[in-house]
Amino acid sequence: MKDRTISRCMTSRHILLRNASQLLTLSADNTNPRTKEGMRDLGIIERGNVWIKDGHISAVGVEDERVHEAETIIDCTGKVVMPGFVDPHTHLVFAGSRENELAMKLKGHSYMEIQQAGGGILSTVRKTREATNEVLVEEALKRLDTMLLHGTTTIEAKSGYGLEPITELRMLEVIRDLGKQHPIEIVPTFMGAHALPPEFHGKREEFIQSMIGIMHTISQEKLAEFCDVFCETGAFTLAESETILNAAKANGLGLKIHADEIENLGGSTLAAKMMAISAEHLVKTSEMDIRHMAESGVIGVLLPGTPYSLMMKEYADARKMIDMGMPVALATDLNPNCWTESMQLIISMACYHMKMMPAEAIVASTINAAHAINRAKTVGSIEVGKKADIIILDVPNYEHIPYHFGVNLVNTVIKNGELVAGGQ
Ligand code: NIG
Ligand code: FE
Repeated sequence: MKDRTISRCMTSRHILLRNASQLLTLSADNTNPRTKEGMRDLGIIERGNVWIKDGHISAVGVEDERVHEAETIIDCTGKVVMPGFVDPHTHLVFAGSRENELAMKLKGHSYMEIQQAGGGILSTVRKTREATNEVLVEEALKRLDTMLLHGTTTIEAKSGYGLEPITELRMLEVIRDLGKQHPIEIVPTFMGAHALPPEFHGKREEFIQSMIGIMHTISQEKLAEFCDVFCETGAFTLAESETILNAAKANGLGLKIHADEIENLGGSTLAAKMMAISAEHLVKTSEMDIRHMAESGVIGVLLPGTPYSLMMKEYADARKMIDMGMPVALATDLNPNCWTESMQLIISMACYHMKMMPAEAIVASTINAAHAINRAKTVGSIEVGKKADIIILDVPNYEHIPYHFGVNLVNTVIKNGELVAGGQ
């Protein structure tokens, strides 16, 4: 994209995207998340056109004679047009950064060792507690701008760097305010059980009860749609995770879980048992866990940026998961340990490190990602009636997206029918 400006001004109400070399509609029966061969069906229309009217998609197809009706025509010759990326797992709101940990990792220290030495999540918690809402908003807005420029139009964002009622609630309020200020739609998740803060050392049960104690307010004030928990040695046990998720369910929140990231404690099978909407990470997930998840339709949200930034040898076994019928989505996991806003990079990693086919990685970053945050009725595909969240990429075909990596291939971003980035 040459002009990296983000404009929030209104554009024409009637836009025609014309003559895309490949229009990836992702249209099909999208009632349920895609599995198996459904994950390879991009619904491609060659020389495709999309009509946008009043923020929504009003027609999809090939060239027709109504061209003169458009107020704005964008020529997409030689380009790919597809739904905006959906990023269903981010820790968008945080203060500070942790680049100092890279040298520690290079010296062989593990993620949990760094955390035990006061770094990792806990160092971000200290900085986040100290930061004002204004600072948190300002920092997060920069990340949202970068996401939008890289083609992401809907995201999920978690709390979890407060680990005390006041800062957890503040984080969720910041997420709500960000959604009002920025074109990207943000789906909020409460993740009070992200780590045990030092002041609760030896008082695990008390901490868990304090987080459960604010769930009622969170749900009443609609500050979150989902609850997530970090089920891991050094974070929360399987039994604790179940307690937290049961309380979340009782408060009407949807369920998510960080499972099998470093060790397998049984988190993904718990997700299947509790009918969670998704389980995330899944690097150490066993074949039996995959079977349980496939049977209950839990979406595996895979985050290849995390093993990459943790310098792990292993990545989630996406190939096996897809072949065994599990619906798979992709996300950045954007956080101070794994800092990328780019779903394009994640798609590339998914192909090169997790053996996903390019088409599967695109389904996982659009319609399946939308399912993972309960937004599949409104975004994730280019179908009549859906929000006009559409991106135009400077590539001749979709296979170019993972293949040509490390640069921004997005030329134009349209959110809710408005031209919000590029396209000049
Ligand atoms: O999903 N694993 C737990 N939480 C985040 C990392 C948070 C952090 O390191 O700040 C994750 O990878
Ligand atoms: Fe995460």
